[in-house]
Amino acid sequence: MKAVILAGGSGTRLYPVTQAVNKHFLPIYNKPMIYYPLSLVMLLGIRDVLFIVNPTDLEDFQKLFGNGSKLGMNIEYQIQEKPNGLAEGLLLAKEFIGDDNICYMLGDNVFFGHDLVKIMVEAKREIEESGGAYVFGYYVKDPERFGIVEFDENGNVKSIEEKPKKPKSNFAVVGMYFYDNEAVEIAKNVKPSDRGELEITSVNEEYLKRGKLKVKLLGRGFAWFDAGTHDSFLEAGEFVATIEKKTGLMIGCIEEIAYRNGWIDREQLLKLAYPLRKTDYGKYLMELGG
Ligand code: G1P
Repeated sequence: MKAVILAGGSGTRLYPVTQAVNKHFLPIYNKPMIYYPLSLVMLLGIRDVLFIVNPTDLEDFQKLFGNGSKLGMNIEYQIQEKPNGLAEGLLLAKEFIGDDNICYMLGDNVFFGHDLVKIMVEAKREIEESGGAYVFGYYVKDPERFGIVEFDENGNVKSIEEKPKKPKSNFAVVGMYFYDNEAVEIAKNVKPSDRGELEITSVNEEYLKRGKLKVKLLGRGFAWFDAGTHDSFLEAGEFVATIEKKTGLMIGCIEEIAYRNGWIDREQLLKLAYPLRKTDYGKYLMELGG
């Protein structure tokens, strides 16, 4: 399985902040937003990652991650000329994906939960063994903002709609999608929505039609933030700060994960930590390396 992380977009919901800087570089507490989805794919053991980025941001992404080798990974980039929607990301990633299955993540989504990695591993296994699409639902109070999934009385998925004016449920589809290779072909046939975007919800709808869409609800014990608005951005930062201070452990610390995965050695960990030594982040890495 390969991972594709969508990190383009214009960030208009975070204006004026994002008029000059791409939202994925903004700090969710003590590290760039983009570290959070990247850390999750790393926790899944995926080393091949493609970032989909705006033309103007490519250089900054390269500054941050290079070709991934400093983390023992292979990181590639694909430019998205215009924010034409999430489904376009799959089309742009076609060559990178090749014959593989896909873990598709949105760059502005922050997740936290004790069993998070376990359920992601389950989703990955399900796709590898049986194909189809595997997505997650999360209860929200503002369903008009999201892709919304409706269930029948037996808990089967009945419908899935993007930003419905009259939502049929409060379960939002979160920005972490597992697909078999068919997703690329499906994305090819997606038509632009009313907001002029190729919606990922249309891809999910097609899987639903084929009887191949699985939705797992993230219940109690999980926190999910779509950090693309001022309030959710702040909430996500406060949440991460609280958990990190309480537990003494970092969320989304990519160097730590690379080290614990055995992708980099102690020497490399300390090398990465050195320029960060004036921060708690750097000190955390130094301690980890002993
Ligand atoms: C996108 C998807 C939506 C999903 C959301 C999760 O919305 O279109 O289905 O629920 O991400 O963050 P957007 O961020 O494009 O408004």
